[in-house]
Amino acid sequence: MARIFIISNRVAIPMAGANPGGLEVVLKATLKNHPCVWLGWSGEVNADPQVATLKKGKNTYIVTDLPPEDFDEYYNGFANRVLWPIFHYRLDLAEFSRRDLSGYLRVNDRFADELVKVLAPDDIVWVHDYHLIPLAKALRARGLQNRIGFFLHIPLPPPEILTAMPNHETLIPSLGSYDLVGFQTDGDAANFARYLAKELGTPSHISHRVSGGARSMRIGTFPVGIETRDFTRLAGRAVKTKFVQQVLKSIPGALMIGVDRLDYSKGIPNRLEAYERFLIAHPQWHDKITYLQITPKSRSQIKEYSDIEQAVNSISGRINGAFSDAAWAPVRYVNRPYSRTALAGLYRAARVGLVTPMRDGMNLVAKEYVASQDPEDPGVLILSRFAGAADEMRAALLVNPYDPDAVGAAIARAMAMPLGERKSRHAELYATLLDNDIGTWGDRFLKVLGPGPSGEVQALSDFIAEAS
Ligand code: G6P
Repeated sequence: MARIFIISNRVAIPMAGANPGGLEVVLKATLKNHPCVWLGWSGEVNADPQVATLKKGKNTYIVTDLPPEDFDEYYNGFANRVLWPIFHYRLDLAEFSRRDLSGYLRVNDRFADELVKVLAPDDIVWVHDYHLIPLAKALRARGLQNRIGFFLHIPLPPPEILTAMPNHETLIPSLGSYDLVGFQTDGDAANFARYLAKELGTPSHISHRVSGGARSMRIGTFPVGIETRDFTRLAGRAVKTKFVQQVLKSIPGALMIGVDRLDYSKGIPNRLEAYERFLIAHPQWHDKITYLQITPKSRSQIKEYSDIEQAVNSISGRINGAFSDAAWAPVRYVNRPYSRTALAGLYRAARVGLVTPMRDGMNLVAKEYVASQDPEDPGVLILSRFAGAADEMRAALLVNPYDPDAVGAAIARAMAMPLGERKSRHAELYATLLDNDIGTWGDRFLKVLGPGPSGEVQALSDFIAEAS
């Protein structure tokens, strides 16, 4: 039986008590249904990097440490100081250096070297996210002819932005070494198609020659979802836990919740500013709402991340300074991570879910918030139109995160929304979640990646037509 090789920067090794990360949740069904080998970074930085292999059930995990220069140049450098900001439309934050780019290519080559040692000819390789764009090219250069797919979890900007990235002309076309490239939304796929058309003059496909055979890449949209029913059940149980009940007891009035990694793409300062406008415009809600923002720190060695930390600290301090009284603080800002169960319970308890990234590939918090609600008394999702999830979740209160007055008005609307409207919006959102449950996501991608044409993938020319 062909094995599935999953390759990603982070690897979620299942261990007792560990919190499953986003990628593991997304890939859970694939790991359950097929024998998989998952290869990536161990999360350790080590001058003498070790490779470890671990077996858990029918799955195998191969993790490698990164030496300090790779951690700096590949992870902190090219992946998170060039690709991450540019793919989130933040050219202003990108800091390009040739050294970082060569570190990035070096790590991709190293992953390719590890892979060729263990791959059999009929194994299927599925590469995830922006850290590993050139991996298929590196594998093809080593003679590999396996089916190789790529899924981008983050947005892909239009060519007008992408072409400002130094060396885009070698990096982006290297995606042509994959058999299938998947995106979160049709907009991202259309951006890619437009890039190919503009830069490479590719009308309907691009070809890559491997050992004399022609290989053509296809693109498709595979929006990630969640395990909807499981999450609903989890939230129903979790809301009764001592932890959630204590949080609820400790606040007067309703709970509004935001959960995001501390990242400038998440728009936390803008969101706080919108809340401040809401508090100024609606004094009747003072003492009756508490905004809990849970924000685990991330990528702290990168300057833009410490800058955002300072900005969030300063705005939340300003709001609490201006509006608090002895019995109420309008903002509760927490930097530590919480378990999936704790979050599910808090989502269910929250009257409003505030998910307002400036740009986001999908955003599963939006989906988890909706899945957590009690259908008889659901909370209201306020969602940025610039999150991939907004494509599907039309019944949320969709907002422009660049407009704090509008987001403030949406908070007021959510707080005052009658039960009937809350129920009908929730029912519509829940139905879309069920429609695109994560249980079948991996299999859909793998089915399209497998040999033979499939109706699920649109021709490149369709995306170009849609985009123009
Ligand atoms: C995003 C990316 C993932 C990444 C995660 C956490 O969701 O799409 O690939 O793993 O952020 O970031 P980190 O840098 O901590 O892995």
